[in-house]
Amino acid sequence: MLSIVTRNAEETRKLGKMLGKVLPPSSIVALIGELGSGKTTLVQGIAQGLGTVSSVRSPSYLIIHEYDGPIPLYHLDLYRIRSKEEIISLGYEEYLHQKRGVVVIEWADRMKDLLKASYLKVNLEMIDLLQRRITFQPQGTPYEEIVEKIKKITS
Ligand SMILES: Nc1ncnc2c1ncn2[C@@H]1O[C@H](COP(=O)(O)OP(=O)(O)OP(=O)(O)O)[C@@H](O)[C@H]1O
Ligand SMILES: [Mg+2]
Repeated sequence: MLSIVTRNAEETRKLGKMLGKVLPPSSIVALIGELGSGKTTLVQGIAQGLGTVSSVRSPSYLIIHEYDGPIPLYHLDLYRIRSKEEIISLGYEEYLHQKRGVVVIEWADRMKDLLKASYLKVNLEMIDLLQRRITFQPQGTPYEEIVEKIKKITS
């Protein structure tokens, strides 16, 4: 486990960028945190780290956004999801099992038991207006190693 406090959005983006640089293709990142906790901001950084070409906005009506780059980014935002059936009908499994890109899921707690056994769980907590506590909890391999790498880079 690794817990980091960021003091503004730019720091969260930088942290996401570091993560994006060490995530291998087929990684799954599950983001959990309340409205405005910085999930999309972290995804913007991850996209930068992956070398994604187009920019990441909060998908306002789309639930799945695909971004091209050396390692594609599949950005899922489950905020508007009402039921597990709805997630299943999205064809989410295709994304979880693909080998080319990185999958990042906002509101991943809404699909808890649909996730694979191994993924990188990231909790985002609002400390105050600007500070966020971002906690990486690796679930299985290779995520322990990935978190160890981030630990080294940030220490
Ligand atoms: N340390 C910080 N890290 C990230 N965002 C921050 C930070 N401090 C302030 N902010 C602001 O908080 C907001 C975070 O918004 P963001 O869209 O990333 O959150 P979110 O978790 O994706 O929200 P939603 O649940 O609506 O999708 C932005 O306006 C950002 O500028
Ligand atoms: Mg968001």
